[in-house]
Amino acid sequence: EVKTYPAYLKGTWQESQSHETIAIQSPWKHDVIGNVQAVTQSEVDESIHAAKAAQKPWAKLSLGDRGQYLNRWADELEATKDEIATAVMNEVGKNFNDAENEVQRTIDLIRYTVQEALHMHGQSIRGDGFPGGSKEKLGIIERVPLGVVLAISPFNYPVNLAASKIAPALMAGNAVIFKPATQGSISGIKMIQALDRAGFPQGILSLVTGHGSVIGDYLTEHPDINMISFTGSTRTGKHLSQKSIMIPLVLELGGKDPAIVCDDADLDVTADNIIKGAYAYSGQRCTAVKRVLVDDKVADELVAKLKEKVENLSVGSPVNDSTIVPLIDNKAADFVQGLIDDALDKGATLVTGNQRDGNLLAPTLLDHVTQEMEIAWVEPFGPVLPIIRVHSLDEAIEIANKSKFGLQASVFTQDIDKAIQIAGAVEVGTVQVNGRPQRGPDNFPFLGVKASGMGTQGVHNSILSMSREKLTVINLK
Ligand code: G3H
Repeated sequence: EVKTYPAYLKGTWQESQSHETIAIQSPWKHDVIGNVQAVTQSEVDESIHAAKAAQKPWAKLSLGDRGQYLNRWADELEATKDEIATAVMNEVGKNFNDAENEVQRTIDLIRYTVQEALHMHGQSIRGDGFPGGSKEKLGIIERVPLGVVLAISPFNYPVNLAASKIAPALMAGNAVIFKPATQGSISGIKMIQALDRAGFPQGILSLVTGHGSVIGDYLTEHPDINMISFTGSTRTGKHLSQKSIMIPLVLELGGKDPAIVCDDADLDVTADNIIKGAYAYSGQRCTAVKRVLVDDKVADELVAKLKEKVENLSVGSPVNDSTIVPLIDNKAADFVQGLIDDALDKGATLVTGNQRDGNLLAPTLLDHVTQEMEIAWVEPFGPVLPIIRVHSLDEAIEIANKSKFGLQASVFTQDIDKAIQIAGAVEVGTVQVNGRPQRGPDNFPFLGVKASGMGTQGVHNSILSMSREKLTVINLK
């Protein structure tokens, strides 16, 4: 029997007054695995109202007390790790091992966030540092919460990318409205069931599921939302930044992360990292390697190594821990197939792949990709990797920077001076030297520039972005 999940509004599990639910289809079971509530605007309103009321007493609690709630949440997640990982696997098609790692990473992140918040502190400043200023002006700078934070998470990390917004928001003293991606809602609900069991004060967090067309803009434009943290597509991120009114935004959006491979690179290390970077979870990661810019002198050798590894990737069902799993839906598979077809039409070489069974695409490697092909610039979010051969470092940097995206870049070389030179020249949030792009470890800052985002995440920076400075000046006699 297919389960219908309630929404978590004002601290209670409820069916929506809309009497409408949304069916969640598994990307690999090809069956409806559950229904979630289509929450109404007035329910959103009431949830935000309750969050606003709950926030003040929550912020008054000591950091230690808030931390205890969050640690209890982490304990509850740990106790139901397998159940939540299974929900992630069924709902978004992530293999069980990766799904379990996602839940463990979340438990670690919550506990680390508690510790980080406990160890953050304010500053004081005297006025005499500025011409004409006086020592008798003593400024005390503290960090205070923003109010109600709207956390919007994507399908590909339905647990981790939700908790990495919710935990810092709560530790900073905010209330939270959590809107999961519809495909990902069941995983989000399971995670919030654990939060509910931890006994948080009523209303401090509400989980609203529903149609973006009904509640998306309503949430974004709501006058009692004080900050938005969003992970998802660049298109939606841009829309959000147009709709939101004078509130801070943190946006983590798409990417087209290049792996720049120099002629002196250790090609075994390089190939290993490129394969893991490009094909894990079928490439459905913002930080996936999405293009290789390789020096022509070593391109043949690199392509041969990549080919062998791609052909050894496991393809199939997430229950069998396959690396290559069915994409989130058929539309996504059509999109990736369109990019492959365009490249092949325009003369790219198919090294391996280009087979399809519904939304399961074989891992595909394309060589001799040129700048005229869409795959050179568009983010596929699927298991296809284009190789663009370059003839100089300058050319690699130029193509790297021509992208509208600027999330991360990898540089493979054994020459540290060259690595630093390239790192300085590429316009991205993070450069990985001899490693694949990735968000973690989660104590690192994580940010994208250009169309890849705005603001910085990572535990410390998320706490900062969900709080603000408050200055109290004591005018001493
Ligand atoms: O999809 C975007 C995520 O932030 C990527 O995280 O590098 O840990 O896979 P990850």
